[in-house]
This record gives sequence, structure tokens and C-alpha cells, in this order.
Amino acid sequence: MYKIAVIPGDGTGPEVTVEAVKVLKVAADKFNFKLDLTEFDFGGERYKKTGETLPDSAVEELRRFDAILLGAIGHPDVAPGILEKGILLKARFELDQYINLRPVKLYPGVETPLKDKGPDDVDFVVVRENTGDLYTGTGGFTMKGTPHEVAVQSAVYNRHQVDRCLTYAFEYARKYGKKTRGKGDKNTLALCGKTNVLTYIYDLWERAFNEMGEAQYADIEREYYHVDATCMWMVKNPEWFDVIVTGNMFGDIITDLGAMVQGGMGIAAGGNINPEGVSMFEPIGGSAPKYTGKGVINPLAAICAGQMMLATLGEEKAADAVEKAVMTVTGEKLESLQAGRMGYSTSEVGDLVAENIA
Ligand code: IPM
Ligand code: MN
Repeated sequence: MYKIAVIPGDGTGPEVTVEAVKVLKVAADKFNFKLDLTEFDFGGERYKKTGETLPDSAVEELRRFDAILLGAIGHPDVAPGILEKGILLKARFELDQYINLRPVKLYPGVETPLKDKGPDDVDFVVVRENTGDLYTGTGGFTMKGTPHEVAVQSAVYNRHQVDRCLTYAFEYARKYGKKTRGKGDKNTLALCGKTNVLTYIYDLWERAFNEMGEAQYADIEREYYHVDATCMWMVKNPEWFDVIVTGNMFGDIITDLGAMVQGGMGIAAGGNINPEGVSMFEPIGGSAPKYTGKGVINPLAAICAGQMMLATLGEEKAADAVEKAVMTVTGEKLESLQAGRMGYSTSEVGDLVAENIA
């Protein structure tokens, strides 16, 4: 029995979450485990009514769950930053979900802008550090509103944050890596940084990466790419990548690129992972307000978030069954992954995946 907190959130979040829950229930029946779901209404509507984002008491409540499934956060009537910082980032930081795990995998039948690349070429994962960098560095204004206004926002990392992220990434590469990638016959971990300009932050990352790799992970091949080059190769030669580890800001940016490479926001999912605590799974895309309530949004990203949740809970067989069902649906059914062009409604896509598991 798993206790799962469900936060459908804003916009199309609730519609896609319903489909993810539908699929999870079928997988639970088939693979003999139970889900005890509790829904929470955090999001833009609640904020508008009560002024509350994610209260401290809710964080304490969420700690008692085995995992959290999140739809989307973001409301057109609420100023940017309030819900993002108040709900999403607060959950990530308070629950110390220090890894943001984002697979980039092209499923059969899915159109990618990289026309001549197929599912064998696009199959890597980004391990994004999820607690530091520009996201939590300090900053401020001086002379605000004057022509001489100064704004500062600092990128901050400590060795502990870097080391625990690298440990996760090396372990992930050891466990799930593919020897067919990289240059040698070992599994490969690539560090994405900017050592030529960010000579403090990524110097720390690079030293920690090499020290840990030499001392504990001689079986893993180490590679290094600057972030701008990473973007270039993700499009030109995605088959080079297997496991990429990077800081929070670069991880944010390259995983939106990754989402497009794998066919768009309709399919891209991620996990905010605390390996020792409560993790939270979400589609990478936003709340897509313009599609709200129309039944046209693609629920596969939310379903894939559910699949990552099952894998992290240790239900590997159920997770594999969900992924295979998603592949069958992309390969044999959907006309496109884009909202309104799937050839099916949101709930029909959920049904198709559910049928394929059952
Ligand atoms: C993401 C999002 C968030 C981030 C925003 C909404 C705060 O872009 O999950 O990638 O920057 O991490
Ligand atoms: Mn992002």
C-alpha cells in the first residue's frame, strides 16, 4: 500500500492528473499493490481565494506520504513567481528533493524535429541538481528605479549539494547506463558546465566530479561538455548522451530542449527526487491555461510522471508495463503528441494506455 498525495494544480493539470491516476490504478490492480490517494487543492484558485500557496502545515503533511504526484502550477491571473516559488519550489526545497531527474527518450511513432533520429538515438537522462544555484543564491537591488539601478543574483553551491547530486548521478549511470554510449566500453556520465566562464561554480563541480569519479567510480567513463555545446550536441548527436549531470539553472534550460527533442511537452516527465525522503513527480510542461477544460491536452507526460513514480517506489514491473503501454499508444495510435491533434481526447488517450496495461 502506497500513500500518494495528488496535487492536480492549475489549468490543464487536473485533466492530465485524472488520466495518470486512471493508469496508476490499472497498474496497481494488475501488479498487486494498492494506492491510497489523497487530493490537495494547492494552486492558483486556492491562492486567489485564501492568499495561501503551500502552507508550512501542508509541507509537514506531505512528509508523511510515500510520493507526490503533481499536475501543473501556474495561473494566468497570478503574477509570475508567486505560485512557482510558493508551491513548486517550496515543495522541492522543503522536502529536500535534491535531484530533478528528467529522461529524454523518443518513443516509437513520435515526431521529433530531428528527422533522421529514432528511438535508439534519443534515450538519455538529465540529472539536474534541484536545490541550489541561481535558484537559492542571494541577491538584491540597490538604487532601484533609478537609471543607476543595480540588480545582483548570485549562483551558490556548496560541496555537500554538489557531492550528493554527483553520487546520485554516478550510481544512476552504474545501474541504468548503456555501454553503447560514449567512447569506450564503459557506462558514461557527462558533466554539463561552463568552466570557461563560471570559473568558481563549475570549477567546484568539475573537481568534485573528477575526485569522486577517480576514487569511487573507476567503472564509469567521465565526459565534460560546456552547456552551450551540450545544447548543440543534444540536437545534432543526441546518441552521444546517456546520463548528463548538471546544476539547477543549466538543468532547467537543457531539459526544455530535451523535451522538444523527445517530441514536446506532451510526453516529457520529471521526478523531484529525495532518495531518502518524499519525492514528487510532474509533467515538465506548464498548466497550458488556453487548453483548460477542452479535453484536448495530452496526458502522456502526466502518465509518464506516474510511471517514474512507480519505478522510484520500487514497482519496476508496473513501471515497465506503463512505459510499454505508452510506447504502444505512441507507436500505433496517436496521430501527434500535440494538444488537439492526437486523434483522441485526453481521456481517450488515458483509456488507451490503461487498456494496454490491463
Ligand atoms: C521546471 C520549471 C520551474 C523551474 C519553474 C516553474 C519554477 O521551469 O520545473 O523546469 O524553473 O524549475
Ligand atoms: Mn523549466
